[in-house]
Parts: sequence; C-alpha cells; structure tokens
Amino acid sequence: MRVIEITEFGPPEVLKLAKRPTPEPGRLEVLVKVDAAGVNRPDVLQRLGKYPPPPGVTDIPGLEIAGTIVALGAGVFGWREGDEVCALVAGGGYAEYCLVPAPQCLMRPSSLTAIEAAAVPEAFFTVWHNVVERGRLARGETLLVHGGSGGIGTTAIQLGKALGARVVVTAGTDERCRACEALGADLAVNHAEGAWDDAIRAAIGPHAVDVVLDMVGGGYTQRNLDLLAVEGRLVQIAFLQASRVEVDLMQVMRQRLTITGSTLRARSPEEKGAIARALHAEVWPLLEAGTVKPRVHAVFPLARAADAHRLMESRGHLGKIVLDVTAQ
Ligand SMILES: NC(=O)c1ccc[n+]([C@@H]2O[C@H](COP(=O)([O-])OP(=O)(O)OC[C@H]3O[C@@H](n4cnc5c(N)ncnc54)[C@H](OP(=O)(O)O)[C@@H]3O)[C@@H](O)[C@H]2O)c1
Repeated sequence: MRVIEITEFGPPEVLKLAKRPTPEPGRLEVLVKVDAAGVNRPDVLQRLGKYPPPPGVTDIPGLEIAGTIVALGAGVFGWREGDEVCALVAGGGYAEYCLVPAPQCLMRPSSLTAIEAAAVPEAFFTVWHNVVERGRLARGETLLVHGGSGGIGTTAIQLGKALGARVVVTAGTDERCRACEALGADLAVNHAEGAWDDAIRAAIGPHAVDVVLDMVGGGYTQRNLDLLAVEGRLVQIAFLQASRVEVDLMQVMRQRLTITGSTLRARSPEEKGAIARALHAEVWPLLEAGTVKPRVHAVFPLARAADAHRLMESRGHLGKIVLDVTAQ
C-alpha cells in the first residue's frame, strides 16, 4: 500500500511517499480502505520529533480517517465488510489501508462526503470530551475558545452553539474572526490587536466565562483564570506557547475554579469507544441534520502531504486540512 513516511525529523519535505505491506487486522480490529485522512497539528509535532506515537502504534502519521471496512479481526461484532465509516486512530491515517480498534469506528454520517467525514473524528472526539465531559458546558453558559479558526476551534464553535452556549473565540486576523462569527461565534476577538482578555471583558463583562478551551498556555493561563466566573472550568488541551506557567492559585480557591485537561491519543480503545458512543448518540444527529458540519479548508492528494503540513504551519487555514487518499 502507498503510505506517507516521516523519513527523519524535520521540515515538511521529510514526508515522503513509500510502499509498505498492507496490515492484517488483529483481535478486535478492523482494516479500513482509506478514502481520506485528516491532517492535525499533532501530526506536525510528530514530524518534528516532538510527539512520538504511543508504544505499539505505527510510525505512519495520521489520527483520523474515512473509508470502507474491508476486513474484520477476531472478536469484532457490529461491523461488516463494506460499511462506510470514519474513525479515530492513534496513527497510520496517511495510508491506503489503516487498522482501527473497532470501538473507535463510527458509521459515516450520510450527509457527509468521505473528505468531510475524515475531518470529523479528531476534532469532535476532542471537543466533546473536553468541553462537555470534562468542562461540563451547560445550556446558557459562556464558552471561550482559543484558536477559534483551527480544526478544534471551528468544531468547538459549532458544538458550543448547538448545545445552547454563548461562544467567544480568539483568532489571529480580522478575516479569521469574521469566519468564526460566520460559523456561529457570538464574539470573535483578534488577539493580534492587543489585550484579548480586556476586549472580552469590555464586551461581556468581568468573570463572565464559564468554560475556557485553551491550547496556548503560557501567558494565556492567568488571563484565562481572570475571566472565569465562580465555579468556572479551564480545560487545557495543548501548549502552543508553554506548559510551565506561574499562576495565582488564590483565585482558584476564591472562585472555586476547576483546572483540567486531557490528551486523546494514548487513551485505551475502551475509553475512546465510550466517547464514540456519546458522539453517536448526541452529535451524529446534529451532523445528519446539517446543524453542525466540519469546515474543510483545503484538500491535498496523499502524495502532497508535505504541502498540507506547510499550509498548517503557515496558520493560513480556516478549519480542517484533509488528504485525499484516492487521488493519484
Ligand atoms: N489534548 C488533545 O486531546 C488534543 C487533541 C487534538 C488536538 N489538540 C491540540 O489542539 C491544538 C489545536 O489543534 P488544531 O488541529 O485545531 O490546530 P490548528 O488547526 O493548527 O489550529 C490552532 C490555531 O491556534 C492558533 N494559535 C494561537 N496561538 C498559536 C501559537 N502560538 N502557535 C500556533 N497556533 C496558534 C492559530 O490560529 P490564530 O493564528 O488565528 O490564533 C491556529 O490556527 C493543537 O495544539 C493540538 O495539538 C489536542
């Protein structure tokens, strides 16, 4: 099968097309013939040598796919050859065939193309688990999302709105702010124009945010805490600036705040399966109805994975970047 290999750690050009044997599904796994694979920022970090795959996981990058099940491993029930699925994987998405633990598959929503479906799993699993299950976002509350124009951000805007929350985002240009508002954000603040926290306070008042979804850390952390309401929740999913920060914990005590966070990749198939079941019950109807929809910014053939990474690193994208694995 054709795959993309990380030939050494470094710039996008280390991503090279190669041939590898097609794998066979083990117990509780299915083999998916991949139509499309989502590109995610963690793939960039893996390419740079800063985010190794968990033990036992292929070194082929790629955390989400859409395609057709072509073989079932022992012990798999509930799936058939020919089922069109999308799936979260711990690696191996940038390839013509990909092994998937069966609990991590979801039937592809009939409203979505394979390209669109490949843009769903990573962002929707992450946002659901962190904003809803950890952040406990409730109807009528206010959600602040940083990186609003990215894959995670565009998903969080739509899910937040669908759940009845007010959604505030930050993004790095006026154009991206307007795009976030077009997706449903109630307020988008351009962080390149100065103190984004003062702008949010001026617009919605002090201590008016119930949940923050943050992937920046560093200088954002204290400012996130300062915006939170009593019983507010700060959910950390990455550190694009820095993971080591100095904060005043007095505020956590006084305001009864919760600081939490999670990673997805190394979690067990059972844990990911539990998130998949929740998504199927709560979010698949929204996708089927078109209430929420992945925003695909650009599609590249598999062989041009390096260009897809260049685009992601330029921060010029609005939403998701997808590899078309069927294109030559
Ligand atoms: N913990 C988990 O389970 C989990 C799962 C998936 C992803 N993640 C993490 O979540 C983050 C977002 O993922 P994504 O796929 O949405 O990425 P993405 O599409 O690249 O979006 C991230 C956005 O963050 C903004 N940003 C703010 N500060 C930045 C900085 N210092 N460097 C780069 N970008 C910055 C950029 O938009 P502006 O320039 O407009 O601000 C960028 O577009 C990534 O760090 C990823 O590793 C975590």
